[in-house]
Amino acid sequence: MYRLVCVSCGAEYPPDEIIYHCRKCGHLLAVQYDLTDLEIDPAVWRSRPLSVWRYKELLPVTIPPVTLAEGGTPLYHLERLGKSMGLRHLYAKHEGMNPSGSFKDRGMTVGVSMALQLRRTSVACASTGNTSASLAVYGAKAGIPAVVLLPAGKVALGKVAQALMHGAKVISIRGNFDRALEMVHDLCISHGLYLLNSVNPYRLEGQKTIGFEAIDQLGCVPDRFVLPVGNAGNISAVHKGLIELVALGLIDRYPMMTGIQAAGSAPVVRAIEENLPEVIPEPHPDTVATAIRIGAPVNAEKALTAIRKTGGLAASVTDEEILKMQRDLARIEGIGVEPASAASVAGVRKLVTEGRIDRDEKIVCVVTGHLLKDPETVIRQCEPPIEIDADLPSLLSALHL
Ligand code: F0G
Repeated sequence: MYRLVCVSCGAEYPPDEIIYHCRKCGHLLAVQYDLTDLEIDPAVWRSRPLSVWRYKELLPVTIPPVTLAEGGTPLYHLERLGKSMGLRHLYAKHEGMNPSGSFKDRGMTVGVSMALQLRRTSVACASTGNTSASLAVYGAKAGIPAVVLLPAGKVALGKVAQALMHGAKVISIRGNFDRALEMVHDLCISHGLYLLNSVNPYRLEGQKTIGFEAIDQLGCVPDRFVLPVGNAGNISAVHKGLIELVALGLIDRYPMMTGIQAAGSAPVVRAIEENLPEVIPEPHPDTVATAIRIGAPVNAEKALTAIRKTGGLAASVTDEEILKMQRDLARIEGIGVEPASAASVAGVRKLVTEGRIDRDEKIVCVVTGHLLKDPETVIRQCEPPIEIDADLPSLLSALHL
């Protein structure tokens, strides 16, 4: 049993109402379960495969889900990279290993399942890329049409390729992500498409399982979760999941929720640093990490609460720091991620250097999307292949042998 509850005024709505904002105060809604009614046996959870659906008692879907085996992503111990920063317990949860190559699949398996449960016949989103790729994939699996709005010229190649190949109707708008989100919201309200951006409370339910899995894999509660922040849905979702685990008595403390943004697109960081009650939108966000190029994060209110209530931190990293960490993850740990994902680990490096993170902490960085999402940014950073004549002497000479 669950209902939708306004995160600000607490107004309640029935779970089958298609609603994205509170009618009384305009704030976002969250799914609230009757935790006292739930029978959750951690041994039963552990007996199921590691996946989003291991935790189905804490998910809103009651029909057979639209699934492609999402979640169950690896948690890597970053031994060498951690050592270079003086950290012994640095981990990366590689969400790029999901079916479409990003954490969005956790949200979409739940969100698109809910679209069917609520008898919607089409789905839509605005996206910096990954959400659109994921929605296209899950729309295809569900057999319903998907419409995606992208900021023209600002979406990494792999993500556009996925949205197109999986058959979404792909629209590029001459405007940024924040504008695309406003437009798709209006479209969904006026024409009944089911909106699957992170204003959708059900989608975020799937994303909270990142935290559940990391705790299961680590065998304990980490001291800190570090996430890249764009629209701020993911950090809020993971925090919500942890609140539920605490309420159920399954964990007894909160990791410090830590959000990392790109320096050119950092309204949440600014709000934390300047202790503002709410974020001031950044009108011209810009960063090489196009996935998190968002100036007006719609989930900012929840993210600020998550960071403040858990004694967490927020920090921004420059594009150079992001790209350096992308290369270090690739070359020192063998982990290929897109720039936005490298931001979380780059943030840790910065915070450790500044002495704001204790070197004994157990830290889980969420690396959110796969390297191949943005091949152009990869190629730009690397030397091109050495082309030679097809004979052995040329090969030996190219290898300086
Ligand atoms: N990392 C990646 C790779 C992303 O694609 C996103 C968001 C984030 C981090 C930030 O997550 O928005 O929940 O704070 N991408 C969205 C999209 C906005 O449209 O694909 P957030």
